Amino acid sequence: MYNEAYSLAPFIWRNLINASPDIITQTADHVRGLMQGESSGHDWWHIYRVWQTSLYIAERETVDTHVVQLAALLHDIGDWKFHAGDESVGPRLAREWLQSLSVDEATIAHICEIIANLSFKGASVKPAPLSPEGQVVQDADRLDAIGAIGIGRAFAYGGAKGREMHDPDAAPILHATFDQYKNSRGTTINHFHEKLLLLKDRLNTATARQLAEQRHAFMEAFLAQFNAEWNING
Ligand code: ADP
Ligand code: NI
Repeated sequence: MYNEAYSLAPFIWRNLINASPDIITQTADHVRGLMQGESSGHDWWHIYRVWQTSLYIAERETVDTHVVQLAALLHDIGDWKFHAGDESVGPRLAREWLQSLSVDEATIAHICEIIANLSFKGASVKPAPLSPEGQVVQDADRLDAIGAIGIGRAFAYGGAKGREMHDPDAAPILHATFDQYKNSRGTTINHFHEKLLLLKDRLNTATARQLAEQRHAFMEAFLAQFNAEWNING
């Protein structure tokens, strides 16, 4: 016999003790609506992968999974790369959204701080300190920039921004300031040397370092093959 009160009990109970699943679902729906179909490698599926990878890492570290998930979902909302270099857009949009859900101020401040400090800012730029939750999301974001998916995203981004794929006469630059990095018009192959190949040594968690090994090796193999094809006469 179907007992409605009994079947709804776990749902109601879960929402009484912790409203997070609902807030997370609403946030995922909101971000999907904003980012679906973007074609430069910052689409909803990038967010989805970072969310899932963040959860994978979070389950193996000691962190607040609620904050990790919200920061992962909101981390590229208003990315500076698509707002004329303005870094304040992301945290502002995240704050407005979380306030509309009546999330408490301490959680909002924590998430906005993560979003503001997550991004890679240049090979020689000292990174901002991150909370353990921020470290998990940063690792997940960085894992999505390397390996097969990272290679795909780099060329998608280069195409969207009108960059040359490769110029053997252009040397990579290890940018010393965020402004230099932001304004760089380098080739996509140089982006591997300026950022992507550096990421495996700039991860925060042991779980991410382990996941990065094979992805890094795959990028190196890709670049070796690319070079071999380019230099057909040796
Ligand atoms: P971050 O916050 O560290 O910038 P994102 O999640 O915003 O990371 O993703 C950056 C993505 O954009 C990466 O996959 C990266 O390969 C790509 N990208 C950024 N700059 C360039 C560039 N100059 N050339 C090619 N790809 C780029
Ligand atoms: Ni990202």
